[in-house]
Amino acid sequence: MNVTLRPATAADAPRVASLLIDTRAAFMPYAPSAHTDPEVRDWVGAHLVPSGGVTVAEIGGKVVAAMAADKAEALSWITQMAVEPTLVGQGIGSLLLAHAKCTLPLPIRLYTFQANSGARRFYERHGFKVVELTDGKANEERCPDVLLEFKGPNGEV
Ligand SMILES: CC(C)(COP(=O)(O)OP(=O)(O)OC[C@H]1O[C@@H](n2cnc3c(N)ncnc32)[C@H](O)[C@@H]1OP(=O)(O)O)[C@@H](O)C(=O)NCCC(=O)NCCS
Repeated sequence: MNVTLRPATAADAPRVASLLIDTRAAFMPYAPSAHTDPEVRDWVGAHLVPSGGVTVAEIGGKVVAAMAADKAEALSWITQMAVEPTLVGQGIGSLLLAHAKCTLPLPIRLYTFQANSGARRFYERHGFKVVELTDGKANEERCPDVLLEFKGPNGEV
């Protein structure tokens, strides 16, 4: 499987939005989005992709996954990660995460839902450690989440 990574362009926005909508429906039924699909599409086209932090994975010219990252003052955040539902478990998420580790200032933090056991296993296998478990009152879905952090290959920053 020949997967290439590249920065997202404006033309990718509809596909990136579809990936976020489809993975939410397929894998996170316990945490429905607080926004309608058209709202998600507008936000991806007007804010997420123009922010410049979105990387897409392509196979044969088709976008099959997307990752969004933000650089804050002393750390980086992965804010979105979505692999085409029919292609999960084939290493595409691992490629995106390896790219994030090489290109983003460390440490890297992210939130995922506590109920998303597959994603938690995925991140923890890639060296992310639990920083905090929350009751979900601070997120839009009001769904308990977990704050994970990657400090470096040996745990250092
Ligand atoms: C989590 C996710 C990004 C991982 O990407 P991926 O390409 O499937 O991951 P890889 O193939 O590199 O690694 C496989 C691991 O991913 C994890 N995983 C998470 N969700 C999975 C799923 N629905 N199916 C299979 N594996 C899944 C597992 O830990 C799996 O390892 P295992 O086979 O030992 O169980 C991807 O599965 C996905 O988009 N899931 C739905 C959306 C999501 O949960 N996003 C993260 C929110 S922060």
